[in-house]
Amino acid sequence: MYFITIWMQPDLKIAKPVRLAADGNITAHDVKWMHAEEAKEKEVAHMRMFDIISRKRDGLPLGYEELEYFINGIVDKSIPDYQTTALLMAIYLNGMSNRETSDMCLLMARSGDMMEFSDELVTVDKHSTGGVGDKTSLIVAPMAAAFGLTVAKMSGRALGHTGGTVDKLESIPGMKVDMTLEEFEKAYRKTGICISGQSGNMVPADKILYSLRDVTATISCIPLIATSIMSKKLAAGAKNIVLDVKTGSGAFMENPEEAFALAEKMVRIGLDNGRNVSALVTMMDTPLGYCIGNSLEVMEAIDVLKGGCAGFDLCEVSIALTAELISMASGMDVRAAAREAEKRIKDGSALKKLREMIISQGGNPAVIEDYGLFKQPRTVIEARSPESGYVSSIDAKSIGDVSMNLGAGRSRKTDPIDYSAGIRLAKKPGDRVEKGEVLAYLYTDREDAAGQAGAFLDACEFSRTMTKEKKLILGRVSKDGREVY
Ligand code: URA
Repeated sequence: MYFITIWMQPDLKIAKPVRLAADGNITAHDVKWMHAEEAKEKEVAHMRMFDIISRKRDGLPLGYEELEYFINGIVDKSIPDYQTTALLMAIYLNGMSNRETSDMCLLMARSGDMMEFSDELVTVDKHSTGGVGDKTSLIVAPMAAAFGLTVAKMSGRALGHTGGTVDKLESIPGMKVDMTLEEFEKAYRKTGICISGQSGNMVPADKILYSLRDVTATISCIPLIATSIMSKKLAAGAKNIVLDVKTGSGAFMENPEEAFALAEKMVRIGLDNGRNVSALVTMMDTPLGYCIGNSLEVMEAIDVLKGGCAGFDLCEVSIALTAELISMASGMDVRAAAREAEKRIKDGSALKKLREMIISQGGNPAVIEDYGLFKQPRTVIEARSPESGYVSSIDAKSIGDVSMNLGAGRSRKTDPIDYSAGIRLAKKPGDRVEKGEVLAYLYTDREDAAGQAGAFLDACEFSRTMTKEKKLILGRVSKDGREVY
């Protein structure tokens, strides 16, 4: 078999070199100027996954039609898994240009249902790449809704050491998070805020690709992560999107430079597909806030919305993320937008929005006043400091694992969750502690959890002197580029 290259007339719609198999309809005798549409049809008819894999293996970019052929083929199952995984590995090794990721992401988003909102709504969405104690969605969404933005958000469940917003909300007695699209629409239209699990057939291409990446060592690849995350955001339909890209020991992207690169790729994809997008790169080497675990995190979010905000890492990130949304949606500068966000806490309107959301999703709003209405844990274990000094670090990843072992998370998708399980920190890095003083309370129903206090202490480090406070928000990526703080 040999290949020929056909150049098409430059004034036609397609003007690029096409490699066609010589054993198909087109032979060396057929080399002639072709009409662009005709050429395209033949190109698709002759497209083979083998050639697409070869191109990427050789470091060449894939065109829109090739990516379309690939995404269509995985969804209609005409492409076998062994070819899909070969291409994933080639992408892992050779990367993808911004044009390729933007095209592939849109094709993935269009592989299933796409949410559409009416033009009069100013829709916003938020995504975090996953952190320990990260309950910012429960604070950002009510603040944004109180500003008049529409938050119609589909969120995920917990897997591994990080939590999921949907599980947290489900810890509120009666709260319904598995909503039909009709229920979802009714709720956000009525209150301007709704957080639900994924419904309908959203982004089937991502489900197929993610499950194959998971078993072929191709998860940690920026173009594949960016297309996976952003395909779900594009399909979810919001016009304004803020991304919280975590970095540090408890994050997916441990290295800040990689976190910025991922943020840039995702922002580019969003902008190329007509959305307003910005990203903050934030530290996740210590848990965010004091609480880790589902109902504990809801209580902490409620405390913040009640005004318990000052000088607190959780508030700093929540306000900064809300400010990005307000700024993108209104054109206000980010500092003024941050003041607007804070005002929604001070005047109680954000808490009111949370209450409205709980009611419209069937939950018991009395939990806001009475935390005793949440399921209570059977056992409280105290983790006490082995020495006097200053807490210098509390490793987020290890704390996420301890929380999971107490019953708050799941290692497999089908594992049950104990909503009352988790950890309440009594000290944070930088705090003074005396030997024997409580560092954290561990909550669980599990009878075999006594060893978790030791595991908690293994995650802590101490020093004789006070350690310098670390930066929490490392920078920002927007349509204007990267700003490092
Ligand atoms: N989260 C996603 O949704 N996709 C990835 O590939 C990684 C993290």
